Amino acid sequence: MSDYESFDYDVLVIGAGGAGLRAAIEAAQSGVKVGLVCKSLLGKAHTVMAEGGMAASMGNVDDRDNWKVHFADTMRGGQYLNNWRMAELHAKEAAERVHELEGWGAVFDRTPDGRILQRNFGGHRYPRLAHVGDRTGLELIRTLQDYAVHQGIEVHMEQTVVDLFKTDGRVSGAFSYDRELGRFKAFNAKAVVLATGGIGRSFAVTSNSWEYTGDGQALAFRIGASLIDMEFVQFHPTGMVWPLSVAGILVTEGVRGEGGILKNSEGRRFMFDDIPPLYKNQTADTPEEGWRYVIGDKEARRPPELLTRDHVARCIVREVKAGRGSPHGGVFLDIAWIKEKINDSEAHIKKKLPSMYHQFMQLAGLDITKEPMEVGPTTHYVMGGIRVDADSQMTDVPGLFAAGECAAGLHGANRLGGNSLSDLIVFGKRAGEYAVKFAKENGDVRFDAQEAKASGQRAVAPFERVGGENPFTIHHELQKLMQEKVGIVRVESELQEAIEELAKLRVRAENSAPNGNREYNPGWHTCLDLPNMMTVAEACAKSALERKESRGAHARADYLEKEPVFAKINHQTVEADDGSVKVVAIPTVPMREDLQEIIDWQQK
Ligand code: FUM
Repeated sequence: MSDYESFDYDVLVIGAGGAGLRAAIEAAQSGVKVGLVCKSLLGKAHTVMAEGGMAASMGNVDDRDNWKVHFADTMRGGQYLNNWRMAELHAKEAAERVHELEGWGAVFDRTPDGRILQRNFGGHRYPRLAHVGDRTGLELIRTLQDYAVHQGIEVHMEQTVVDLFKTDGRVSGAFSYDRELGRFKAFNAKAVVLATGGIGRSFAVTSNSWEYTGDGQALAFRIGASLIDMEFVQFHPTGMVWPLSVAGILVTEGVRGEGGILKNSEGRRFMFDDIPPLYKNQTADTPEEGWRYVIGDKEARRPPELLTRDHVARCIVREVKAGRGSPHGGVFLDIAWIKEKINDSEAHIKKKLPSMYHQFMQLAGLDITKEPMEVGPTTHYVMGGIRVDADSQMTDVPGLFAAGECAAGLHGANRLGGNSLSDLIVFGKRAGEYAVKFAKENGDVRFDAQEAKASGQRAVAPFERVGGENPFTIHHELQKLMQEKVGIVRVESELQEAIEELAKLRVRAENSAPNGNREYNPGWHTCLDLPNMMTVAEACAKSALERKESRGAHARADYLEKEPVFAKINHQTVEADDGSVKVVAIPTVPMREDLQEIIDWQQK
């Protein structure tokens, strides 16, 4: 039952989205043997859902942009809970990584004089997002994939990793099953990079596809790594709300970046109703002209729809709750209005937003060049995740690295759109580089065959649960619970209830059972995904309960303001003695003086 095929690598990368591919390329280029495991087919990753662009301060559209402004924007967006060293590295290295992608064949949109075109996005002071229409994530994956297949990387597709091995205090490999026939593989590795993405499938409405069940976070947690900032889950303001079968699918922020405006059922552009005090120097112009602000001698014009995502999502919820929503429980997003400003706006919209045009045409029978879309918040991204060292991306477990969405730190309390694609390539590269270094410096390690046998036995255990419960029912209840009680706006009593319910769901998940056998069996796969989803859900709910304030993506109806005491606290999730998750407050690391000066100067 628990036989397995064995593989040996210097570096094993788990996850093949942007971060995983970039890490694997970096490792392979240094000449070591690299294995790449992906849960889905190679090339299918949530990375493609970052549609609107990747943020890098190249200054091609506005030459006032530079890494310092990008750094300050990222820190302000994250409400200063970010790991400032990661924010510094990201802002400094993003442009180089984008140019590298271009050299590897990425075909970016262009300025009239032939440079990479950059567009506006929420919270970025200047047009900063290098993009390919509204398919930037797809282009990033295509480019990395094309490049990676020539690097001698061994790829294992449709493999779900169920355990990481640890030997002599360091990581030593991983155990997986293949989703087709349910056969096992065991990987011996001197270093492992986790790049498994997010946790969105624990919520009912999400832009995430089926793979995003918190695997990397839970795998790392189970062998002693800690998680941080798990209360911060990003609800992207604009997902589809209708038809119901496609609710949650992303409507790129690029729509707003290209001039799309949000309106309620009264036709009012409600984003003008709540401009945060942070922008007190700004004065509202006419809605058509956008919104002007002046900082020092610098001036930029931005619409209120491009405030940070947390704020826009909450404004939408406010409108819907006040009965001013659209017929299907969202608000209206209108890009068609630009016909008043642009000749041949139809062709313009189709060129700039081709995927959105087809998405609404095919899924909702709606022509976005003529009519407004109906949109509402969708669970999109988790800012929290595995705690890593900023420079190397190593977790608390020696030899175990994490990059991309499953790692935490860069984005603090709220991520700016476009900062995820650049995160993947900046820190994917670093994780690959440092994993090789670790492998070389620390030499061979072997997983214990008994551990592999035990992993196999645990994996098939659901088949032996006589009268066990349907795993899909439990998953559905988990999603509903998280959406309703640990969603966009949270409150003490509901968080308490959620934590109690989660404990019960965990017990039920431990008794979930599939029908059939190991071949092509999504019921079995769900039985094995459930414990991971439980771990991340519990970490999220418990961290949210502890944060008695509203900050960034974490909004509390019972604590509406930011509280100074929480301004310098990250929540770390560690394993309690009984194996459940426990949350502890850890002080943030004081910022380096030169970086603090940048922030102070930008705030003037
Ligand atoms: O809206 C978007 O295109 C998403 C971008 C992102 O999450 O970075």
